[in-house]
Amino acid sequence: MLKEKLVVGNWKMELSYKAELEVARAIGSLMKSVVTDKTAVVICPSYVSLTAISESFKRSDKIEIGAQNVHWEERGAWTGQVSVKQISSYIDWCIVGHSEQRALTGESDDIVQRKASLLMQYGVVPVVCIGENREEYDADKTVEKITEQARVVLNKATRTALTKMVIAYEPIWAIGTGEMPDPNDVAGIILLIRKIAAERFGNEAAQRLRLLYGGSVKADNVEQYVDQPGIDGVLVGGASVQPMKFVQIVKAVQQTAE
Ligand code: PGA
Repeated sequence: MLKEKLVVGNWKMELSYKAELEVARAIGSLMKSVVTDKTAVVICPSYVSLTAISESFKRSDKIEIGAQNVHWEERGAWTGQVSVKQISSYIDWCIVGHSEQRALTGESDDIVQRKASLLMQYGVVPVVCIGENREEYDADKTVEKITEQARVVLNKATRTALTKMVIAYEPIWAIGTGEMPDPNDVAGIILLIRKIAAERFGNEAAQRLRLLYGGSVKADNVEQYVDQPGIDGVLVGGASVQPMKFVQIVKAVQQTAE
C-alpha cells in the first residue's frame, strides 16, 4: 500500500496575527477543491494565532495544524517559552530542531530528541529537522552529519514510535536561498536515514517512517523531489504563506501520489 504523502507549511514569523488568519482562511477555501486523499496537509502558524486557527478548522477541512517549536519540559519557570501541555489540544504536529531555532538557541540534538519524545507522549507528531550547513556540505561532511543527527533523533524511539514521527532533511544552505540540492543526492540522504532506522528497528518499521525534504520548495520544483523513491513529502517555508502557491504545491504532490 502507498504511504500518504505529507506537505507541511512553516509560516515562521512572516505575518501579522490578522494576516495569519487571512492566509489560513484562504488556504482553507482553496483546499476545498483539491483532492487530497493521498496527501496530508499541515500548516504551522505562529503561537499567536495557533489556537484561533486551530479552532477555525473542522476535522473535515483537510488541513491539520502544527506548531513551529515547543519546549522540552512540560512546565516550569521558563520565561517566554511554550510547553506541549499548553498547546497539545490545538495541534497534531510540531516542528522541532529547525535550523533557525538551533542557530538561535544552540539547542543540541539531545534536546531536539527530548522534545520529540515529549511530543509523542502527548500524541503530537514531531517533525524533526536535520541537515548540514554550507561548510559541512562543501567539506563533503553531509553523510557524517546526517548519520550523527539521525542516530541521536532515533536513539530513544521505539518501533511503534517510528510511525508517529517525521524526519525532515533540510540542507541549511538550501533554506530560503533558492539554491536546490540535486534530487538524487536528496534521495541518497533519505535512503541513508532509512537505513539508520532499519539498523535499529528492521526494514519493515523503517519503511513506515515518514521522511521529508525541505529547502526552497516551490510548485515548479517540488515534483522532482517527491518523485524520488523514499521521499514522503516536503516541508515548505516561504511559499507556504502564499495561499495559491502553497495549494499548487499540495496539488503537485498529490499528483505524484497518484
Ligand atoms: P524555505 O524554508 O522553503 O523558505 O526554504 C524551509 C524551511 O525553513 O523549513
